[in-house]
Amino acid sequence: MAYAALRSIGAYAPKNILTNEDLAKMVDTSDDWITKRTGIKERRIADKNETTSDMGVKAAQKAIERSGIAKEEIDMVICATISPDYFCMPSTATLISNKLGLQNVTAFDISAACTGFVYILSIAKAFIESGMKKNVLIIGAEKLSAITDYTDRGTCILFGDGAGAAIVGATNDKSEAIIDVHTGADGSFADLLMTPNGGTGSPHDSLEQEAGSCYMQMKGNETFKVAVRTLTKDVEDILAANNIASEQVDHFVPHQANYRIIKAVGDALGMSDAQVVLTVHKYGNTSGASIPMAINDIYEEGKLKAGELLLLDAFGGGLTWGSALVPFSPLR
Ligand code: ACO
Repeated sequence: MAYAALRSIGAYAPKNILTNEDLAKMVDTSDDWITKRTGIKERRIADKNETTSDMGVKAAQKAIERSGIAKEEIDMVICATISPDYFCMPSTATLISNKLGLQNVTAFDISAACTGFVYILSIAKAFIESGMKKNVLIIGAEKLSAITDYTDRGTCILFGDGAGAAIVGATNDKSEAIIDVHTGADGSFADLLMTPNGGTGSPHDSLEQEAGSCYMQMKGNETFKVAVRTLTKDVEDILAANNIASEQVDHFVPHQANYRIIKAVGDALGMSDAQVVLTVHKYGNTSGASIPMAINDIYEEGKLKAGELLLLDAFGGGLTWGSALVPFSPLR
């Protein structure tokens, strides 16, 4: 049987920085409030003409280059995004494949909000283990600034743009393999986090009637409570199912939504500060891109070594959630 291994990681963050001070000039807020309530100091914002697929390509190029796997060997491309280049089609994954010059690949997007990267990791793992695919390029890419209402202080302080990518490849060596991925969803919480306009569920007859057609809306406080509960249970379940103790985890990489959520979850799980990966202060919440961007940060800082165990933990709109136990298994 083939196993699936995480071969590489790459990411891209746009150069433009939007600070808390900048936001305080746009809405009634302050650096002090944002820092205390979220831990976010700044976030990156893509150029007007820079698309989600453009950012995904830059992250993917790094992941491919670092993987030791030839571009021609990639047989599937999956993109997790809630801010695709085009509303219905073509998918962002097909655009990324074309810009990378990939041919004869299966390419599609999935929508699982901030849990997107864990979902695509589970899909890549399943395709590889079934023998249907050998090398899967997975990308979490978001231009959230395009779906953020910069007059709503409850949401605009949270979100940023960016992309992260990874190559998941087939191996016969079980010690290199992704150990487990858990994913879940509960649509009864759909109204906590949504883009209520711009789809067939919209109360409007046409897109022209809608102001801010795709802006995100969130019941922040309720989302916060469900997030802490769900993220903690997610990790407890996956560790117990695999007989792994929290001390065996080298890097705990939670979705970067809010420092207070990460701290509450880390404390409940008995994770030390050294185990918890934090990037929320510099990128804000980049939804499906947040986990691969965080893994890329520790990789580029030289903190992520071959054979080390990553524990991923995500939560987002839908509601969706997921966790994964992933050894880092580069080929070089
Ligand atoms: N600046 C100043 N005051 C503010 C701001 C702001 N930016 N935003 C809200 N406030 C005010 C509110 O109006 C309220 O005032 P009131 O007491 O006079 O009514 C007060 O601050 C408290 O508001 P809360 O919403 O209760 O604040 P909370 O402590 O919950 O923090 C936040 C808000 C940061 C949004 C938090 O709830 C949060 O992080 N929620 C979870 C986000 C999340 O994890 N999302 C999931 C993933 S996202 C995805 O899937 C795309």
